[in-house]
Amino acid sequence: MNERDSEMISSQLQYAGYELTDNEKMADVVILNTCSVREQAEIKALGKAGYLARRKRTNPNFKIGILGCMAENLGEKLFKLNGAIDFVIGPKRLHELASVLEGNGQSLCIGDPKEQHLSRDFDRKLGKNKCTAFLSIMHGCNMRCSYCVVPRTRGNEQYRPMEDIVGEAKFLAENGIGEITLLGQIVNNYGGRLMPTVDGKTPFVQLLERLDVLPGIERIRYMSPHPQNFSDDLILAHKNLSKLCPSVHLPIQSGSNRILAAMKRPYTSGRILTIVEKLRKAVPNVGISTDIIVGYPGETEEDFEETVSLFDTAKFNMAFIFKYSPREGTRSAELIDDVKESEKERRNQILLQRVQEASRHYHQRFLGKTVEVLVEGHARRGADTMFGWTPNHCKVLFKASENDIGKILSIQIDSSTTSILSGTVTENAQGKV
Ligand code: 5AD
Ligand code: SF4
Repeated sequence: MNERDSEMISSQLQYAGYELTDNEKMADVVILNTCSVREQAEIKALGKAGYLARRKRTNPNFKIGILGCMAENLGEKLFKLNGAIDFVIGPKRLHELASVLEGNGQSLCIGDPKEQHLSRDFDRKLGKNKCTAFLSIMHGCNMRCSYCVVPRTRGNEQYRPMEDIVGEAKFLAENGIGEITLLGQIVNNYGGRLMPTVDGKTPFVQLLERLDVLPGIERIRYMSPHPQNFSDDLILAHKNLSKLCPSVHLPIQSGSNRILAAMKRPYTSGRILTIVEKLRKAVPNVGISTDIIVGYPGETEEDFEETVSLFDTAKFNMAFIFKYSPREGTRSAELIDDVKESEKERRNQILLQRVQEASRHYHQRFLGKTVEVLVEGHARRGADTMFGWTPNHCKVLFKASENDIGKILSIQIDSSTTSILSGTVTENAQGKV
């Protein structure tokens, strides 16, 4: 989500006549687009702002801006923490950036905007050699998971009109983008109660169907769905829609029903297993990944073991593991953070090891097989090594040239590790997407 916001910010400033630079030292303005989900992310951003503040001594015109969730979360406090900060803009007001930059003195833009700007995402400048893009379909979140700061920083759900989203997807396809990733805090809640279900199809699935037939769009992904709304029509869409990738990131947070209830996550581990089973039946080789929080207040060894057990039974092939971090203003911040840091770290390490084994195992099934890879760019490993992703979201390295960026190539897989597949191009499966 932040990556997409950053792209939108940079497009906005380029339309206003600013230029992007790769060299931070050359910049007249540095903007930190921040995250508040965990405390560590805020500490890092504050450290970076502190470092940047020194530039003001030699260049009084140099400007520092804090955008995104930390801006919304800490607001005016940021000016007290670092007097060199010039402007603070929350996620709901990003469209005001260009006009804020024209002004002088400190500016604070947080809270709700005077007018909604749900179409603002459309004005985009695409970078050179770009063949994949994020597409925001909604903003905000109506859930109130006890640990999560997002509803406070991004507000309640707002859905972009379907026509705007389809229009933006067409624009992307016409500009060489072959793969789109639909974004939302709960992407499968798109439309909520405001848009009707038609023939048993939720608005999200209706949107997927419209995108699936767009010429030039070869792949559709989405991030992140919520287990509660993961309905059968979505599973069927995975079976029926040819562009929808066989890859799902389904955050479970915990495998203990007791902890899920405490987190105000309205599902059980049984529900997760049902979704996973149905998905695996409908979509061969589907990649399923997840997010897990360890060390939530009151999480016992038994609760943790239930999470490990769910991870193993569901056979997730990848996961992001987070150590619980109390966030001010959330419901769980009022509870005692009673799992010791060392214990959080131990649980984190146990799960990380499981994740590595699961990824290694999942990757091995592609050895000797030919997979389709959308070539995204140069890998860090040598000039002629390129990278791309399979439909089930495995990263692949192979020898190819810069001219292949944007093509879907058939690659025979020769070796695999926990994080990467490597292979050889066998034929040019399709032209440029
Ligand atoms: N502490 C730790 N992890 C968190 N996440 C959200 N809030 C917190 C928190 N307070 C994790 C969840 C979510 C991911 C984006 O970040 O796992 O899915
Ligand atoms: Fe946060 Fe829960 Fe909403 Fe996800 S669903 S953004 S974890 S409140």
